[in-house]
Amino acid sequence: MATANTFDVVVIGAGPGGYIAAIRAAQLGFSTACIDEWKNEKGGPAPGGTCTNVGCIPSKALLQSSENFEEAGHHFADHGIGLTNLTIDVPKMMARKKTVVKQNNDGIVYLFKKNKIQFFHGRGSFVKKGEAGWEIAVAGAKAETLTARHVIVATGSNPRALPGAAFDEKAILSNDGALAVDHVPKTLGIVGSGVIGLEMGSVWRRLGAAVTILEALPTFLGAVDTQIAAEAHKAFTRQGLKVVLGVKITEVKAGGEGVAVKYTDAAGSAQELAVEKLIVSIGRVPNTNGLNAEAVGLALDERGFVTVDGDCRTNVENVWAIGDVVRGPMLAHKAEEEGVAVAERIAGQKPHVDFNTVPWVIYTSPEIAWVGQTEQQLKTAGREYRAGTFPFMANGRARALGDTTGLVKVLADAKTDEILGVHIIGPMASELISEAVVAMEFRASAEDIGRICHAHPSLSEATKEAALAVDKRALNF
Ligand code: FAD
Ligand code: NAI
Repeated sequence: MATANTFDVVVIGAGPGGYIAAIRAAQLGFSTACIDEWKNEKGGPAPGGTCTNVGCIPSKALLQSSENFEEAGHHFADHGIGLTNLTIDVPKMMARKKTVVKQNNDGIVYLFKKNKIQFFHGRGSFVKKGEAGWEIAVAGAKAETLTARHVIVATGSNPRALPGAAFDEKAILSNDGALAVDHVPKTLGIVGSGVIGLEMGSVWRRLGAAVTILEALPTFLGAVDTQIAAEAHKAFTRQGLKVVLGVKITEVKAGGEGVAVKYTDAAGSAQELAVEKLIVSIGRVPNTNGLNAEAVGLALDERGFVTVDGDCRTNVENVWAIGDVVRGPMLAHKAEEEGVAVAERIAGQKPHVDFNTVPWVIYTSPEIAWVGQTEQQLKTAGREYRAGTFPFMANGRARALGDTTGLVKVLADAKTDEILGVHIIGPMASELISEAVVAMEFRASAEDIGRICHAHPSLSEATKEAALAVDKRALNF
């Protein structure tokens, strides 16, 4: 704390990892700056990173709009609500999405002001370690140099392209283009049936596109509990999402009419798919572009991630790295937890982030959410466990909602009854999973959840019943 542009903590990147780290650092009394280069349409700052601008937030806005359209078109009639001439105004839907994104950008700007965090709009890069600390250059409208006692690298990730098929964001789309299509394409191809593929495929299918997803692996949602993945596959197929497993993409060519994709199928036969648009969602790569990591000897691993220890310390003194740019799941809430933990470590505290209790959610319909171990992981580890499941079909609230697809599954240690994993497919799984996370953080047993009073009628009763089912004593099934 001395001169202007000298800070205790400088955070590079204002995604969910970076901006939360900056807020926590400021709360702990550190003079804090945050640098971010993201530009809005007018060239101004748009803090919030991938998550806010082209990730979590806009995708959930479009998922909601398209879900409303699907409900109105297919399910309102069951409630006696008649609608004729249902239409979708895609530009208006996109304008709403933009408003939601801007509300979040503005919210972060407000939080920076509230917490007295100095924001710099531009690209941050390492210069050197000087006498007073790390020197960080900011290349923005005005060139500046900041000095920092501690630096937190939170530069996130970028979409991975297929070799020989660069994103043009018109026909071959990354998440960025997939969230900004200005009409409903008649045909949509998606490479990769991971989280983005399923979420974006759901959006455009609900609005009327014929969607084909090409997936390299022979199994559907291999990281998800097998029983849940099978339910999901059934549900998505019923909805009309076509998923082709075990493909090998051999050529992708964008032309006047759209995109031609050549691939071999699981049987090894050559196939071709012609689509108006192609989304490529085959994972993401860490972003260290322009950081000048080499200049200060910041170590990256063979895949380009900044190398960190369990506490997010890099190989250079007082430089930390968090979020998508380091190992672990590429999730906004994981980035946030690491950001908070690093700020607290700088303050000499001893926080802990437990990767085993980081929840995963896929915001399709039905939603898929899980925490902890899958049944196949427990089998592989040779761990003795008991499983309890409860279908939403037997849950009163789900019936009233008219959404009874799916189930809750609780896995608990055979001897101690400690909950080892909870897997949900069904309505509001994204919200229901929090109870399981809390239970696992407190190392609860399945019996603990079974003995807790849950409001009736609520979807959460399915979790209680699945916990009771571990001991074969579900009450309503
Ligand atoms: P980012 O959010 O990528 O932010 C990094 C920031 O750093 C960016 O603003 C970038 O411009 C800036 N930056 C990079 N280098 C520099 C530099 N040298 N100088 C200045 N600034 C720099 N996760 C979930 O948990 N839930 C979801 O529902 C979800 N949905 C998603 C949907 C999509 C379509 C995508 C693509 C991702 C989604 N994710 C979701 C993943 C989530 O967006 C990421 O895990 C999260 O954004 C990572 O946060 P981060 O802070 O590490 O990086
Ligand atoms: P992903 O890792 O979820 O899925 C990628 C899929 O592409 C995998 O199934 C993989 O087998 C397949 N694949 C890889 N190479 C392929 C190829 N050449 N041909 C065909 N298939 C291929 O990655 P995705 O969907 O790109 O998302 C990136 C990350 O963003 C996610 O892993 C997640 O961390 C985050 N995210 C999180 C969301 C959420 O939390 N709801 C939503 C969207 C993204």
